[in-house]
Amino acid sequence: MAKGAPSFVCQNCGATYNRWQGKCEACGEWNTLVEETASGAAAVPPNLRPRRKGRTFTLESLAGDSHDAPRTPSGMTELDRVTGGGFVRGSVLLLGGDPGIGKSTLLIQAASLMARAKNRAVYISGEEAIAQVRLRAERLGLADAPVQLAAETSVEDIIATLSQGVKPALVVIDSIQTMWTDTVDSAPGTVTQVRASAQALIRFAKTSGATLILVGHVTKDGQIAGPRVVEHMVDAVMSFEGEGSQQFRILRAVKNRFGPTDEIGVFEMTGLGLREVHNPSELFLSERDLGTPGTAVFAGIEGTRPVLVELQALVAPTSLGTPRRAVVGWDQQRLSMVLAVLEAHCGVKLSSHDVYLNVAGGLRIQEPAADLAAAAALVSSLTNAPLPADAVYFGEISLSGAVRPVAQMPARLKEAAKLGFKRAILPDMSRGDGTADTALTLNAVSSLTHLVADIAAKGVGKAGNSPRLRRQDG
Ligand code: TYD
Ligand code: MG
Repeated sequence: MAKGAPSFVCQNCGATYNRWQGKCEACGEWNTLVEETASGAAAVPPNLRPRRKGRTFTLESLAGDSHDAPRTPSGMTELDRVTGGGFVRGSVLLLGGDPGIGKSTLLIQAASLMARAKNRAVYISGEEAIAQVRLRAERLGLADAPVQLAAETSVEDIIATLSQGVKPALVVIDSIQTMWTDTVDSAPGTVTQVRASAQALIRFAKTSGATLILVGHVTKDGQIAGPRVVEHMVDAVMSFEGEGSQQFRILRAVKNRFGPTDEIGVFEMTGLGLREVHNPSELFLSERDLGTPGTAVFAGIEGTRPVLVELQALVAPTSLGTPRRAVVGWDQQRLSMVLAVLEAHCGVKLSSHDVYLNVAGGLRIQEPAADLAAAAALVSSLTNAPLPADAVYFGEISLSGAVRPVAQMPARLKEAAKLGFKRAILPDMSRGDGTADTALTLNAVSSLTHLVADIAAKGVGKAGNSPRLRRQDG
């Protein structure tokens, strides 16, 4: 490419082209190419750049003497659960999520708690004025927390300011799309700017030992907008999810260099900010319709924590040529597989029925262990036979129709017993795996055919046998 020639950069994935085109071939997105002039170091051909002699540095051993506690707990257990036990010094986190989901609220709460614990916490907003941030803090009852606030967008100014005085323990940048650096001339929000700004801020975090949290916007389909490249530069990517209409918010780690990626943090958005939910099962089961056909309780595991959640299915005759299959909170492919197994091995004909499956409470399940609960809910809806209200279901279904064991069965049973359930329908595996000493009645099923026959034959639940669930109102 000629010197100073314009280049077209995909705002979704960062791929560069020297001509405009409608579709980015790298990521398949349409209309994402934007002209950006290459500038700074990249525009100067390598052979014209001044040669610099390398500086020598001392190499360190792995067993260095760093006495500082490696992690600083944020003071929010649900947040710490997702990060892996607190913020690692010098690490960089990217927090993504839909607009209005509560990213700024979560971070001002975390920054306030850090500041109250006598750490220097800085919150830099590129989107809101200081007065707006203050108003929110007041509403959250955090106005007295010694957080240092600024409404700034220039990366150079921010780094110069942060380098003065005590080293900050936590720096929040809300959001990375609003930041800009002098070193490149593209407009704020373009891939080049976002990448250069993130690079400069990350360098500051690594040298100062501050934990840096970057807020990133999310596109319609849930990707962190623009800087896919930033995802590779940071140590952890977290996403904050939830249904707009519901109060539950789930924080999930998508990538984490210093901790697990399968843990979730559960919050509830209240009038006074985000409240941590330490017992999500009670929350997800709080609005159950007991004894309705088509619902089954799945005993799942999210990271290390058992979570009970209701699966709701609706199977209804279709009026269209191609029946609909819609699923919320679970994998569409997985649903297709369960439907295929039901058709092929259990004689359940669904080709003239619409199928809807929903995970209650806005949770998104990723475990295959939900297969059995989904199948039970589907068959229950189809045959109009309610499942017993005091039963939980878990097990993976194989293509042959066999029900396979899943991980952490004792933990699932323990949680179910704690919440007042009386029996579990689970894979056949009675070889001393710790499931023996449970208070629940265990109904082991080795194949899906047996379960379907059971539901269809005597599916009507026994009345008055429902579990003692603590209902939460409001
Ligand atoms: P916000 O943190 O600004 O979202 P984001 O930074 O992800 O865009 O949250 C905004 C939403 O949260 C807004 O719709 C109002 C709601 N909210 C509450 O319900 N209670 C509260 O105490 C606060 C601060 C916000
Ligand atoms: Mg915000």
